[in-house]
Amino acid sequence: MSAPHAMSEAQRETDASDTAPIEPGSPEADPGAARPVSLAEAERALHDAASGTKAGTNSGTSLDTLIGRLVLEQGFATQEEVKYALTVSRTQEEDLSRSFAQVLVDNDFVTKRQLARLREVIEAERSGQKISGYKILGKLGAGAMATVYKAKQLSLDRMVAIKKLPERFASNPQFIERFYAEGRAAAQLNHPNIVQAFDVGNEGEIYYFVMEYVEGRTVHDDIVKHKRYAEREAIDVVIQVAEALQHAHDRGLIHRDVKPKNIMIAREGVVKLADMGLARAVSDVEAAEAEKGKAFGTPYYISPEQIRGDLKIGPPADIYALGATLYHMVTGSVPFEAKSPAEVMRKHLKAELVPPDHVNPKLGAGVSQVIEMMMAKSPADRYQNAADVLSDLRAVRAGEQPPIAHRDVMGELDLAALQTAEAQAGEVIPEDSSQTSVKGGLVSMLTWPPFLLLVALLLLSVAVNIVLVVQ
Ligand SMILES: Nc1ncnc2c1ncn2[C@@H]1O[C@H](COP(=O)(O)OP(=O)(O)OP(=O)(O)O)[C@@H](O)[C@H]1O
Ligand SMILES: [Mg+2]
Repeated sequence: MSAPHAMSEAQRETDASDTAPIEPGSPEADPGAARPVSLAEAERALHDAASGTKAGTNSGTSLDTLIGRLVLEQGFATQEEVKYALTVSRTQEEDLSRSFAQVLVDNDFVTKRQLARLREVIEAERSGQKISGYKILGKLGAGAMATVYKAKQLSLDRMVAIKKLPERFASNPQFIERFYAEGRAAAQLNHPNIVQAFDVGNEGEIYYFVMEYVEGRTVHDDIVKHKRYAEREAIDVVIQVAEALQHAHDRGLIHRDVKPKNIMIAREGVVKLADMGLARAVSDVEAAEAEKGKAFGTPYYISPEQIRGDLKIGPPADIYALGATLYHMVTGSVPFEAKSPAEVMRKHLKAELVPPDHVNPKLGAGVSQVIEMMMAKSPADRYQNAADVLSDLRAVRAGEQPPIAHRDVMGELDLAALQTAEAQAGEVIPEDSSQTSVKGGLVSMLTWPPFLLLVALLLLSVAVNIVLVVQ
C-alpha cells in the first residue's frame, strides 16, 4: 500500500495556527503549542483529554477513531491519509507495532504540534457539548475571565466565536441580569468596526455569549510581536475604533473596557472592537472577586472616573482608554507602569503623563496633543465625544494640526501668557503705587486747601512785616 501524498510541513503549520490562533508570545499562549512536542507526550495528552469522553473510556481503537475524526474535521489530513494510517497501525506485526497517531506523524500527514493541539479541541468539545445548536471546533484564546471557542452554528452553518464565562458567575443574580441586558443592548448595534453580538444564553451554570468570528489578530498580539506601531498605522486603527465608539455612544452604550486585547484586526486590516456590552456585566463580579483577594487584570487603560467608581460613566471614559491604547501603540510603553495594580491606578488618578513624544521622539506634535487631550485626568477636559476625536485624528492623518487639541493647547498657552503678564503687572503696580504714594502724598499736600491758606497767611505776614520795617 503506497502512502498518499503528504502536505508540506509549512502548509500544515499554517492550517494548524489557523484553527488555533492563540495569542503568540502572550502569557495566555499555550506553552505546549510553542515548544516542540514529543509524540509520546502528544499521545499521552490526547489520551488524558479523551478520558471522560466515550472514546477515552476504553481501548486505543476508540481513541484512534476520535483522533481520526478530529484530524479530518480540523482539515489536518485527508480521508485517504487517515484510512491509510488506520490500516497500517492495525495490520502491523506485534514487535513493529506503531500507534495510529505515530503512523500519521511518521508519514507527515499530521505534525506533532497539530496532534498536541487536538487535546484542546477534545477538551473544548467536552465542555462545549453542553451548548446545544453549536459545534465547538477549537479554542481561540483565553482571557483573565473567560475562554473563547471557535464554533459552528449548526442552524445557519456559519462560524461563530463563543465566549464562555466560568461557572462561578452563575451564583451572582445581579451579574445574570446585567449579562442579558447588556447582551441585548450590544445586539442592537450593527457596525463594520464592532464584533457583532449574535446571542447570549446559558446552559445550566455556563453563561455564554455568541458573536461574529473574527479571523485575525489583536492589537495586543501586534504590540507583543513588534513592540510599537508606526504613527500612521496606529492612527488608522484608532480611527476605526473611534468610529465604532461613536456608533455605540450614539446609542447609549459605553464599552468600559477598551484595550489592545479587545481590538481585533481582521483580514484586509478591518478593525473590530470586541466585547461590547460585556464589561459592564462583568465589572461588579470582578469587583466582588477582587474583594475576595483574587487577582484581576492590571488596569493599564482604565479611566480615572472608573477607578473612583463614579456613578456617571460616559463617552469620555472610553476616549481615555482609547487614548491610553494609542499611547501604548505608538510609544511601545503603557502610559503608567507600576509594580501593582493599585499603584497603576493611583498613577492614572494623580501622576502626570509623560508626553508620548518624549517617549518616542519620532512622533509628531499633533498625535501627541491628541493623546494628551484624550487622556486628560478630568473627563471635562477631554474630548467630549468620539466625533471630536475623529476630526482631530483625521486632521493629523492629513498632516494638519488637530484643530480641537491644538486650540486647547493654544488656549493654555494664551492663558499662561496672560497669567504671566498679570503677575508682572501685579509686581509693578505695588512698586509704582509706593512711588506714587510718596510723590502723590507731596502733590496732594501741596494742593491741600488748608496748606495753601497757611502759605497765604505766611506770605501776608511777611509782607506786613516788610511794610512795618520800611516805615
Ligand atoms: N470574536 C472573536 N473572534 C475570534 N477570536 C476572538 C474573538 N473574541 C475573542 N477572541 C480571542 O480570544 C481571546 C480571549 O478573549 P477574551 O475577551 O476572553 O480575553 P481578552 O480580551 O484577551 O483579555 P481579558 O480577559 O484580560 O479582558 C482574545 O485575545 C482573542 O484572541
Ligand atoms: Mg476580550
